[in-house]
Amino acid sequence: MIDKVQKYFIDLSNKYEAKNGYNYWDNHVKYVTQIADDLAKDVDADLEIVLISAILHDVAKVMELRENESHNLVGSEIAECFLLSEGYDPQKIEKVKRCILYHSGDLDKNIKLSKEEWCVRNADIISMFHNITIFFFLALHEYKLNYNECRECVKEMIRSKYCFLDTKLKVKYDDVFKIIYEAI
Ligand SMILES: [Fe+2]
Repeated sequence: MIDKVQKYFIDLSNKYEAKNGYNYWDNHVKYVTQIADDLAKDVDADLEIVLISAILHDVAKVMELRENESHNLVGSEIAECFLLSEGYDPQKIEKVKRCILYHSGDLDKNIKLSKEEWCVRNADIISMFHNITIFFFLALHEYKLNYNECRECVKEMIRSKYCFLDTKLKVKYDDVFKIIYEAI
């Protein structure tokens, strides 16, 4: 199933690139998936759930559907439709949906993340240290900002995203975050 999901997402990314000039798989999701794989092994999470969720976490962005709604919510619904159509286990689909739903943004304090949700969420943040272009693309393409606005927007996006990184992981990334932040 992981290979099928990856092919599905890469095809969507290629179509998105033909239209918008940016490849989500090559520049962002590929890294999130690799990092999520490493984190899943570190914390003994369900690798299949983590990888499928990591691959699909931004599927709403590449499909450009319901763009005025949360891409976490829309993405979890798109993932559900696709995985159901492929005959994937409904209980596993529920786990994938939650990983996508909680992959970014502020979380209600009552929400306790599963190991799999934790991996996808933190991998999405850590991916900024492998390829930061996603933020420039969002600032230029989605928010249509000029050069100075773009720099400030990217700084703010990475700062607010980095705040959500797990405290234990921050020990490893704090220094490099400061360097990147100052370099923009
Ligand atoms: Fe992402």
